[in-house]
Amino acid sequence: MITPNLSRRGFLKASALTGVGASLVRLAGAGRAAEPAPASGASAESDLGSAPPRPEGQMPVHTLSTPPLERVRVAVIGLHRGLEHVRSCLGTEFAEVVGVCDLRDDRAQAAAGACVTQRGRQPSVYSGSESVWEKLVDRDDIDVVYIATPWAWHVPMCLRAMERGKHAFVEVAAAMTVEDCWKLVNTSERTRRHCVMLENCCYGENELLVLNMARQGVFGELTHAECGYIHDLREVLFELGSEGDWRRDYHRQLDGNLYPTHGLGPVAQYLGIGRGDQFRLLVSVSSGEGGLTRYRDLKQPNGGRHAGEKYVCGDMNTSVIRTELGRTIMLQHDVVNPRPYSRINALSGTGGTFFDYPARLALDAPARYGLEATGPHEWLGEKDLEKMRRRFTHPLWSRLAERAAGAGHGGMDYVMNWRHLDCLRRGATPDSVVYDAASWSCIVELSARSVAAGSMPVAIPDFTRGLWKAMTPLGIAEAPVRGA
Ligand SMILES: NC(=O)c1ccc[n+]([C@@H]2O[C@H](COP(=O)([O-])OP(=O)(O)OC[C@H]3O[C@@H](n4cnc5c(N)ncnc54)[C@H](O)[C@@H]3O)[C@@H](O)[C@H]2O)c1
Repeated sequence: MITPNLSRRGFLKASALTGVGASLVRLAGAGRAAEPAPASGASAESDLGSAPPRPEGQMPVHTLSTPPLERVRVAVIGLHRGLEHVRSCLGTEFAEVVGVCDLRDDRAQAAAGACVTQRGRQPSVYSGSESVWEKLVDRDDIDVVYIATPWAWHVPMCLRAMERGKHAFVEVAAAMTVEDCWKLVNTSERTRRHCVMLENCCYGENELLVLNMARQGVFGELTHAECGYIHDLREVLFELGSEGDWRRDYHRQLDGNLYPTHGLGPVAQYLGIGRGDQFRLLVSVSSGEGGLTRYRDLKQPNGGRHAGEKYVCGDMNTSVIRTELGRTIMLQHDVVNPRPYSRINALSGTGGTFFDYPARLALDAPARYGLEATGPHEWLGEKDLEKMRRRFTHPLWSRLAERAAGAGHGGMDYVMNWRHLDCLRRGATPDSVVYDAASWSCIVELSARSVAAGSMPVAIPDFTRGLWKAMTPLGIAEAPVRGA
């Protein structure tokens, strides 16, 4: 069995504490006495940064294509966030939800009910135990398994899905440790199944716009990006029957970036990470902890039952990543302070700079696009930004925006799901594959290691094992879109 006795707390102990956590204790001691960081490629824990040779019998999946499908048969595990994926599938004419699964029967029944209402077909329902998902995954009439469960379950569910011949679409982050990232990579390569992380933010209207502009040279030579996940989740982190049941535990055990991919995914695609460039190393620094403790003490959530908890995750974690081509990325994480939502979503190059929240664009040569001249320190005016938006709106967004209206997260959940499902239908390589899932997710452990080592540089493993040098960016701006 792939998941022996995997209870939530058991996993955290086994993986986070003894795996990451114990090393962190060791590194924290080493970090205080550490020498100044060597200039390049240095690592607080160099064994994690290197790529083990590809085991025999495995082949790269960068360009993996699979036989086209007339309809895509879907199973969904975890039906809180997963209900949104069910809805997206129901709104995609070539997808069929054949099975739904949740520990909680009420959630599984509600998802099944939505399928009956919208499509008149009842999917099989699996509920009531921590291992019942295995039965669903073992069926032979499923093409792809959506995994929208707590983080501790992502990897065992992905592995079993791929071992049983299904593609895995997994929520963010795909994995919480480097070791688990390698398991995903090796299993995808061995089984020839896709493991796609459901990074919906890659499909936001502005992210797709920036991607399209970057691909068309608006920013010139790309040099720097900034991104993050700034989202006041204090209430959610104490919510019962929701993420509060498990997500707060990570704040008690890891000091680093616990949720890197919403910011990093889009930026990695702008820069062609894994395809022409690659993450090389990061340094990470955390502020002190304060937000969660203060909120807990002030609000006494759930009748004060969390009084004894100690939170170790710094409120603001800032990492700087350097890529093989010498570009830099600033990545932040803060979910415990009163601050308006932002993923920052910034990109700079020799020709211009974009910053989001709110959207702003500065160009070196606005006249090139028939826009009014700006002063040296000015963003484009609203009208000119709008002109650029009209000219560079991503074709995927243009085609799907109407259908996506009302879907989760401003429509990007639908656009993402439609796009991934359409790639499976056509047998095409999805916009992101397992190497992307791994390299965006591994930042959780690596940021914690750098923080624990006094912000020493940590090498980031090359999950492509050198293939990034030969690969060109996937053409998500240019790919054919059918049937929308
Ligand atoms: N991409 C996004 O915008 C976004 C938004 C929200 C959540 N998420 C991600 O989605 C995942 C789930 O988050 P959530 O907010 O729905 O969490 P949640 O705790 O609210 O819901 C998780 C669901 O999984 C079920 N579950 C737990 N263990 C299970 C098991 N062994 N078998 C079957 N079902 C099981 C629970 O009963 C629950 O219904 C997380 O990875 C989270 O990071 C992503």
